[in-house]
Amino acid sequence: MVAARITVNGKETPLAPAAPHTTVLDFLRDRGLTGTKEGCAEGECGACSVLVARPGVNKPTDWVAVNACLVPAAALDGQEVITSEGLATPGAPGTPPELHPVQEEMAVRGGSQCGYCTPGFICSMAAEYYRPSRCAHPEPVDAAGSTDAEHGPNGFDLHALSGNLCRCTGYRPIRDAAFAVGAPADEDPLARRREQSPPAPAATEYTRDGSTFLRRSTLAETLRLLRERPDAVVVAGSTDFGVEVNIRSRRADCVVAVDRLSEMRELRVASDHIEIGAALTLTEIERRLDGSVPLLAELFPQFASRLIRNGATLGGNLGTGSPIGDSPPVLLALEASVVLADADGEREVPLADYFTGYRQSVRRPGELIRAVRVPLPLSQVTAFHKIAKRRFDDISSVAVAFALDIEGGAEGGIVRRARIGLGGVAATPIRSLATEAALEGKPWTAETVEAAAPVLRAEGTPMNDHRASAGYRSAMLGQSLLKLYAQTTEAVPS
Ligand SMILES: Cc1cc2nc3c(=O)[nH]c(=O)nc-3n(C[C@H](O)[C@H](O)[C@H](O)COP(=O)(O)OP(=O)(O)OC[C@H]3O[C@@H](n4cnc5c(N)ncnc54)[C@H](O)[C@@H]3O)c2cc1C
Ligand code: FES
Ligand code: FES
Repeated sequence: MVAARITVNGKETPLAPAAPHTTVLDFLRDRGLTGTKEGCAEGECGACSVLVARPGVNKPTDWVAVNACLVPAAALDGQEVITSEGLATPGAPGTPPELHPVQEEMAVRGGSQCGYCTPGFICSMAAEYYRPSRCAHPEPVDAAGSTDAEHGPNGFDLHALSGNLCRCTGYRPIRDAAFAVGAPADEDPLARRREQSPPAPAATEYTRDGSTFLRRSTLAETLRLLRERPDAVVVAGSTDFGVEVNIRSRRADCVVAVDRLSEMRELRVASDHIEIGAALTLTEIERRLDGSVPLLAELFPQFASRLIRNGATLGGNLGTGSPIGDSPPVLLALEASVVLADADGEREVPLADYFTGYRQSVRRPGELIRAVRVPLPLSQVTAFHKIAKRRFDDISSVAVAFALDIEGGAEGGIVRRARIGLGGVAATPIRSLATEAALEGKPWTAETVEAAAPVLRAEGTPMNDHRASAGYRSAMLGQSLLKLYAQTTEAVPS
């Protein structure tokens, strides 16, 4: 087996002597690449953003920005990383380097003051700069055909920067820089790199000081390994695990990576369901589905930041079993099931039967979530209401997902089927069964909704915590149904 190494700014860099839990951030800084900064070490500030070459959605390779503070360096064995230092072109001896177009715009438009956040902004901005569909559609993107506040005339999606915080500039000059960048030049080496295959996942076996990071090449080998090592910690995008490592000092004797297993990275549309690989990142799912599952399309922008979504997977979101994860309410409303795999084979479990208690599930030791299946056809009326303190990049206090079939249209038609998923109101994500029953067979009118809202308010067993009180959570449930009615009919019930 080849010694573990990462290609950083074009130079092969051995992983040793880093520990298996060492983050990409510490790995880079320990090697003198101190442009990559640590702000929070928990995925919140983006100061540590770097670019990683990943399988592309529209081209063979995409440059994807990730939080270097969350990803173990060992997970990037055999991969290619670009830091802010690697974006500029070195000048002739004695002359300064030639800035990358993104760096140039940030400099001339005053996008950097103290500079602490700047390398992170630069990397997130560079990932968006190289996004092929931005370059292919540089026109304004809102429905009315004019520029909206969140997209530039150059197609730049400001949400690419939603995981980057700045204390100094007030953001306007940063936005100006983002909206000023053009398309990459033909000879731009990183633009050209997109045309070649992404680096293949390396089979990794990296041991240091008694702990091991393992990556197998196939799902079957991984499942056999998990049978032999039931103590192993599975890691995908590491957006949850990385926080555990950094903030709660979690150390595992054995970590097994599943994020590059091709069997868990497929997206297949069959006649009666869509199967989404559990190791696809949320960004990949969002871009591949391209709005074809409207409820998921509504979820993604509200889930963390682009930086987190570039790593986070559905398998990880369900794997934590968190009652405030954002995908479970949506997947419950879609009546999704999970495909669980172990060395003996597979079984399919409806998501409604998957969670058994606080962070508990029917998943057995050695079992992986291989995929999530969403049945077809989809309901016509769907909505996802995430109630949180901030509009973006925040954890839910309450989340409600609706999927309704209303026969005869949203104005007074009959609710034939109602599926409602709730998060943040019980020890597990739950289906809102009483409210579903209160709606089914009834006309979709203000009277029906006003009668069902108290039923929804009474669902679950919400609690008081630092995010919200139990009373607030219950109130938000009822409001959510009233909001859905208003959204579908544009009439607000009294
Ligand atoms: C700043 C920040 C913001 C966040 N915002 C949100 C948010 O808005 N909404 C939200 O829901 N979450 C949020 N999260 C949490 C996190 O991003 C998600 O839970 C994410 O989906 C985890 O996916 P991952 O691949 O990174 O999981 P990992 O961290 O790799 O793994 C998480 C857990 O799942 C297990 N696991 C991973 N893959 C599998 C699999 N295929 N089968 C079985 N078990 C598996 C792992 O063993 C581990 O216990 C946020 C996290 C951070 C750091
Ligand atoms: S250091 Fe803040 S997101 Fe990584
Ligand atoms: S320039 Fe100082 S934090 Fe952004």
